[in-house]
This record gives sequence, C-alpha cells and structure tokens, in this order.
Amino acid sequence: MKNILSDLFLSTTKEPDSELSRLSSELRVTLEKLKDEKEQREAILASMEEGVIVTDPKGNVTMANRKAEELFGKELLEKRVVEISRNPELHRIIEEGSKKGETVTGEITIAVHHPISLSVTMTPLIRNTEKLGSVIVFHEITLLKKLETMRIDFVANVSHELKTPLTAIKGFAETLKEGAINDKENAARFVDIIKENADRLSRLVEDLLTLSNIELGKVSFEIRPVEVEEVARTVISTLEPKAKAKGLSLELDIEKGVRALSDKDRLAQILLNLVDNGIKFTEKGSVKIQAQTTPPLPFVGKEGVQGAFVQISVTDTGTGIPPKDIPRLGERFYRVDPARSRELGGTGLGLAIVKHLVVSMNGKLSIESEYGKGTRISFTMPAAGN
Ligand SMILES: Nc1ncnc2c1ncn2[C@@H]1O[C@H](COP(=O)(O)OP(=O)(O)OP(=O)(O)O)[C@@H](O)[C@H]1O
Ligand SMILES: [Mg+2]
Repeated sequence: MKNILSDLFLSTTKEPDSELSRLSSELRVTLEKLKDEKEQREAILASMEEGVIVTDPKGNVTMANRKAEELFGKELLEKRVVEISRNPELHRIIEEGSKKGETVTGEITIAVHHPISLSVTMTPLIRNTEKLGSVIVFHEITLLKKLETMRIDFVANVSHELKTPLTAIKGFAETLKEGAINDKENAARFVDIIKENADRLSRLVEDLLTLSNIELGKVSFEIRPVEVEEVARTVISTLEPKAKAKGLSLELDIEKGVRALSDKDRLAQILLNLVDNGIKFTEKGSVKIQAQTTPPLPFVGKEGVQGAFVQISVTDTGTGIPPKDIPRLGERFYRVDPARSRELGGTGLGLAIVKHLVVSMNGKLSIESEYGKGTRISFTMPAAGN
C-alpha cells in the first residue's frame, strides 16, 4: 500500500518533462521487448526442419522461412501461393482448408533437383469470424516414403523368390504321385529336381536369416589381427574346383605380411562371395584376390584422423556390369540378369550380405566395372599394425 501511495504521489507531483521521459523509456523497453520477440520468432522459424508459409486472406505470402525457400525458391514474399507451386494437390488442400475453415492435411511430391515428398498441413487463421489468412507447414517425408517402398518391394521379392522353387517342388511331387513314380528313369530325375529346389529354398532362408541377424546386431564379430593371405588361400582352395571346371585361373597378389583387424570367418565369407561371383560371371580368363596396406590418410576429416587400412579386392575378366546397375548392386535381390543368376543357383543376396559384413567391420565397399571387360570389387578393413 505504501508503495502505491508513494508512486501516486510521485506521478502527480512529477514535472511534465520527467513524465514524458518516463513514458519514452517505457516505450523503448516495450519496443525492445517486441524486437527481441520478433528476432526469437524468426530464429525459431529459420531453424525449423519444416517449411512454413504464412499468407494473407487473399493468398499472398506474407512470411516464408528458410526451409520454405529451399523447397519453393527465394523471394516468395508478396507472391500468391498458386504462383510458387503448380502442384494441383497443394492447391486443392489450400482451397479445401479456406472453404471449410479448418485444418486440412495431404501429401504432395515436388521436383527441385530430385523428387521430394512432402506432407502438407494447411491451417486457416480465423479471429472470431474474420479470415486472417493461413499457415501452411511442409514436412519432408521422402526418406520415409523410400523406406516404405523398400519394405513393400522386399516382401514382394521374397514372396516371388520363394514361390519359384515351391511351385517346382509341388509340381514334380504331384507328377510323381500321379504315376511317374513307377517310371524309373524319369522318377529319379524328378526327385533330383525336387532336391535341387529344396536346397535353393534352404539357401534362400539361410541368406535371409544371415542378413536379418546382421541388421539386428545379433551377429557377433571377433575382431582380431588376421593374416589376409591365409584367409585368401583357404577361399581359393575351396573354389578351385569350380574355377577349374570353367577353365578359369584363380590368382593371388597379396603384399607380404598384410594383416587386417577383422573377424577371420566373416572375412572368409566376404571373399567366398566375391570370388564366387567372379567365377560365375566370367567365361574366360582369371579371378584375382589382391591386398595391400595403405598408409593413414593425411586428411583430417569430421571423423578425425583415419588410421592405416588394408585394401582388399577381387578382380575378374568377366562380363562386367552395365554402369546403370552399379549403384543398385548390394540391394537385396538386385541382379543385372535375374533369370541368369537364378539359373546359376544364386539368390541375389550375396552382395547384400557382403556389404553389411564389410560395414559392420568398419570397412567400405566399392565397385568398379567395365561392361564386357571385367569387374573389381574392393573393400577396406582397418590395418592391424605389426
Ligand atoms: N563379378 C561380377 N561380374 C558381373 N556381375 C556381377 C559380379 N558380381 C555381382 N554381379 C551382379 O550382381 C548381382 C548380385 O550379386 P549377388 O552376389 O548379390 O547375387 P548372385 O551372385 O546372383 O546370387 P548369390 O550370391 O546369392 O549366389 C549378380 O546377379 C550379378 O548380376
Ligand atoms: Mg553372389
């Protein structure tokens, strides 16, 4: 009470000049506060991952944040929303929102440098019954869409891969049951076909389990110094008969004493897959395993100084891979010629497993190929030192 009374007393007895200066200083504080708030709002909008556009009742842009400019181009202010994108679905969402006077959502795809999928939320701004404009928020869902497509494709691919051998098994079993079982000569052949397809099914299921176990982190890696030459020799002796049958030579070119920090069995699995591919897709010439230690890179990147690493590669003189297919190799079931791969007993999961194993052991995989001349698939592993 005392304070209020003394304030009152002061304000009534103050000179007009001092009253003016008090008002002016209050105004200054208020303006600064408003400025701070505006800057804060702008900073929040600029840092948002979502694109935000505000329009007046006529549909002219009165505010657009950084992300909105990234999506629809600079200088959006004053433009009409219909001018900044010709997407008919976006126009429908805006029109429906204004008409209904309530939030409307939808999805659109725009093309900047590449197609971008966006979820759109349009909220009309209404005070009492007066329309003040609208806020449109764009949230990028390209990755989500891609994952969804990958999941759908994967299920479709697995079903297809399972269906082919199952159809063969069912068909030949029925033929045997309907009488072919008594036809000694053909019966044995049909049983062989059933066995072959059952083997194919179990290979497929095994590969799928391997992949999913690596992805789930269920595969344990025993990382130790590994003599690369020893592993490569084991792989070569395992696959020598297969190469000989095709008249191909298997070669080794490994720097003396190269040791990688790796899981020995997994490294063998990687090399088995790569050399097997080399043999399968080469008709004449050789498949060669090479390895050498590369000194640490002088470049200090985001991840810090990179240590020395071992570069291991498998090079063949085979069919090669068309350039357009190279980026997609390593995707599950992706094959240049699916029919040919199946004929050779492949599941199309070999390279996907290789890629996962390499990455899980801190390596990188790269594919170089010249169509009609040959392929080199290389990967790195951290070097073990001496
Ligand atoms: N060395 C190579 N030369 C030519 N094409 C290759 C080579 N390695 C891989 N490819 C292509 O990549 C595809 C995928 O390879 P991947 O190892 O995943 O499958 P696959 O060998 O067909 O089957 P799987 O490995 O299950 O037996 C192959 O079908 C083939 O088209
Ligand atoms: Mg393979």
